[in-house]
Amino acid sequence: MGKVIAVSSGKGGTGKTTTVAALASCLAALGYRTLAADFDAGLRNLDIALGMTDFAVYDLADVLDGTSPLDEVAAEHPKIPGLFFLPAPSFLSPEEIDPAKLETVIARAKESFDFVMLDAPAGIGAGFLLAARLCDAAIIVATEDAASERDASKTAEELRGAGIEDVRLIVNKTGNYKRQKLDELADGIGVRLIGAVRSDREVPFAADEETALVLHSGKGAARDYLDIARRLLGENIPLK
Ligand SMILES: Nc1ncnc2c1ncn2[C@@H]1O[C@H](COP(=O)(O)OP(=O)(O)OP(=O)(O)O)[C@@H](O)[C@H]1O
Ligand SMILES: [Mg+2]
Repeated sequence: MGKVIAVSSGKGGTGKTTTVAALASCLAALGYRTLAADFDAGLRNLDIALGMTDFAVYDLADVLDGTSPLDEVAAEHPKIPGLFFLPAPSFLSPEEIDPAKLETVIARAKESFDFVMLDAPAGIGAGFLLAARLCDAAIIVATEDAASERDASKTAEELRGAGIEDVRLIVNKTGNYKRQKLDELADGIGVRLIGAVRSDREVPFAADEETALVLHSGKGAARDYLDIARRLLGENIPLK
């Protein structure tokens, strides 16, 4: 039975989509069949971060209305075996999605994937709540600024309210932050730190080239994401 992990943030632009693409790539490369699902119906762009823009033909709406089975709509990455992508609906807002139908789709996904990563929209609106309702665990992606911290706290509160207890924090785009500072940030938000990701210009470069980060670079942020993927799998990788 697979595990569904929602990646959320509160504040926009902290790196949710980058995180879903990078962690899903790493988990697949480590041998785990992984589905990266775009839940950001309004601003769908997970295809770019995965390097799969040519694969967003059918989407979640086709699975929800029964036109196509999930196995056909979820396309496998051309260069990373075991990594699959489910595009967000182009013409369906989160409010129009029937939660019960979505629950059935996710239950089906859990049967055939080891991990299902949900790229939740920013904020705590309908799209976020759908992801919160369906996930087994969540990752909050925050940056070091006060607004992001406050929004991350609110997100953590909402997730706990939805009954999600396994909530971890990634601090993204870090500069010279010391470990102690990162722990203080995690304490302030009220969740455990799973890792920090360096600010790395290879991230936007990879996106500009529509290439998965881990295929573009093996160091910097790509390396940080690999460490986080290993921690997700239960390996004891010390935080640097
Ligand atoms: N570690 C990093 N180093 C440098 N740039 C980064 C890093 N992580 C993300 N970015 C850049 O920050 C921007 C926002 O990232 P991303 O789209 O992943 O955020 P998001 O949280 O999904 O945004 P939204 O809330 O709009 O969905 C992108 O231009 C991305 O390339
Ligand atoms: Mg995004």
